[in-house]
Amino acid sequence: MTEENRTDTPIEGVWSGLKGRPRSLNPKWFYDACGSALFDAITHQPEYYLTRCEREILEHQGADVARWIGPDMVLAELGPGNGEKAVLLLRQLRRLSAYVPIDISPASLEAAVDGIRQALPGIRVEALCRDFAEGVDWPQYLTSEPRCLAFFGSTIGNMEPKAAVRWLARLRARLRPGEKILLGVDLKKDPQLLHAAYNDAAGVTAAFNLNALSHLNHAIGTDFNPDWFIHQAGYNPDQGRVEMYLQATCDQVVHVGQHVLRLERGERIHTENSYKYTLEELLRLTESAGFATDRVWLDRQRWFSLHGLRA
Ligand code: AVJ
Repeated sequence: MTEENRTDTPIEGVWSGLKGRPRSLNPKWFYDACGSALFDAITHQPEYYLTRCEREILEHQGADVARWIGPDMVLAELGPGNGEKAVLLLRQLRRLSAYVPIDISPASLEAAVDGIRQALPGIRVEALCRDFAEGVDWPQYLTSEPRCLAFFGSTIGNMEPKAAVRWLARLRARLRPGEKILLGVDLKKDPQLLHAAYNDAAGVTAAFNLNALSHLNHAIGTDFNPDWFIHQAGYNPDQGRVEMYLQATCDQVVHVGQHVLRLERGERIHTENSYKYTLEELLRLTESAGFATDRVWLDRQRWFSLHGLRA
């Protein structure tokens, strides 16, 4: 992930991941309009418990979360999806200064803004189109009120733990003392449940994974044939993460700008890590980034956690 961010053109960034060992692709390539729609479909699969559990926390304990956030705040959300979770929270928040969805994908941003405007027409919404993996640069007009950054969905699980600490520390460096982060994190649990969540029977996660190749074809002119790959996902207990791959089903040649990628049948491209944490691990991780944990909210099954962090 960091490899790719250091190179200057998208083609060179993608190539640096694909030529490496293990071969890899930045998970940000999942999210074109089609990929965002597929992710939304994933969240409705019975096996994908993450969204359901997080929504349950916001539905049942949202008033408490809102009280913790406090009045007259700017609530910024990194990767708002369709804005559904924000709506649950914003309903409980009195005297909000503004809601600020932040996303790399304009399509996704639009969905979030539409969702919020429909559900809560009175709220001030200021969308920011940004790759928040790079750290958020705040426009001045959004820094006059204290901020709470919501980062739902366990998206932080896509980062290496050390990178997550660095990223959180960088966010914190731009916050004022007392400003807050609301962090949603998936927890370690029975590996069979984890496996199922990333191998849904309807094949939506497979389509989501394969769509990254179509996205690359459209965005940077590669000539991947998605039919020549299969989806693979599994929990790696040593690393504490679900790993996703695209595996080549035949020998093939792919063009990436001027570069030629030769793949043998059975070779894999690593597309995503989804780290799972224990509460203790999370406490240590956020503390290393300089945050104090004010509160932790859990769903009834204790499968998912929301962390109230203070800068
Ligand atoms: C949005 C990154 C949290 O890791 O669970 C869902 C993405 N990948 N199914 C996750 C995803 C496969 C999701 N995050």
